[in-house]
Amino acid sequence: MHDSRETLGRNAFVTGYPIKHSRSPLIHGHWLRTLDIPGSYRAHEVKPEDFQAFIQSLKEGASPFIGGNVTIPHKEMAFKLADRPDELSQELGASNTLWLEDGLLHATNTDGRGFTANLDQRHPGWDKSDRAVILGAGGASRAIIQAVRDRGFREIHVVNRTVERAQELADRFGNKVKAHPMADLAEVMRNAGLFVNTTSLGMDGEPAPAIDFSPLASNAVVTDIVYVPLKTPLLAQAEEQGFATVDGLGMLLHQAVPGFEKWFGKRPVVDDAVRDLIIADMDRH
Ligand code: ATR
Repeated sequence: MHDSRETLGRNAFVTGYPIKHSRSPLIHGHWLRTLDIPGSYRAHEVKPEDFQAFIQSLKEGASPFIGGNVTIPHKEMAFKLADRPDELSQELGASNTLWLEDGLLHATNTDGRGFTANLDQRHPGWDKSDRAVILGAGGASRAIIQAVRDRGFREIHVVNRTVERAQELADRFGNKVKAHPMADLAEVMRNAGLFVNTTSLGMDGEPAPAIDFSPLASNAVVTDIVYVPLKTPLLAQAEEQGFATVDGLGMLLHQAVPGFEKWFGKRPVVDDAVRDLIIADMDRH
């Protein structure tokens, strides 16, 4: 969608391959309109073999863009090609937000901040516990492990079907992070105050495995990074068992905030209006 604002203001992108299902243009478009900022944010598909050239033209100022978001499969390459990746992305080895500043391409990763800001907004006090359990050790769990560690949890238990992948993350993120096979799940859940699902369990047409959440601390919060559907099978189970839950849509919304502020100069708010806009889009597709 191009409108007259684009010719007047700054232009940002979201790139990935494929990219057409991204909801980021809806989010940023809403903020540009409501804050009355001239500019655009649009999906721009780039094939892996073309990504380096795309970043080169961005760095040279030869593209219409001043920065943007990067998603699968380009996050690792975006980190490598950036001139100034920040500490968060250096530890992750991946960046999702790029911006030009003083002629250099800066990069950060806002997924972890999206995760914590969502919980801060929807379940304040979520971080007042020592023990967290993170199910899954794929790309999506990395930024969450980092964010939970940086928030001060003392024990972060990463449980994964393939325990070697969990071990790689434990090695990467330091001695607060422990790796476990699925068989240890009930044991490590004991008295944990935070349970995060980062896997696609129960989302691929297979029934979700039954999880007994009762070992968690009674005031624990259960959250899922999947947001389609909003109430995932694991969240439904946790709710039925009397636990507080937070859905993953807010992580998507909050991870968009730092990028918008960099490109367009104003900090947008995550409110019901932008949330309802995405929910309405999910209902349509
Ligand atoms: P992403 O980057 O989105 O996290 P991923 O790298 O494919 O995606 O990781 C998916 C996660 O879901 C992994 O932790 C995966 O476990 P494995 O590392 O053992 O593959 C987990 N996962 C997916 N399907 C699963 C299933 N049926 N049972 C258990 N874990 C599953």
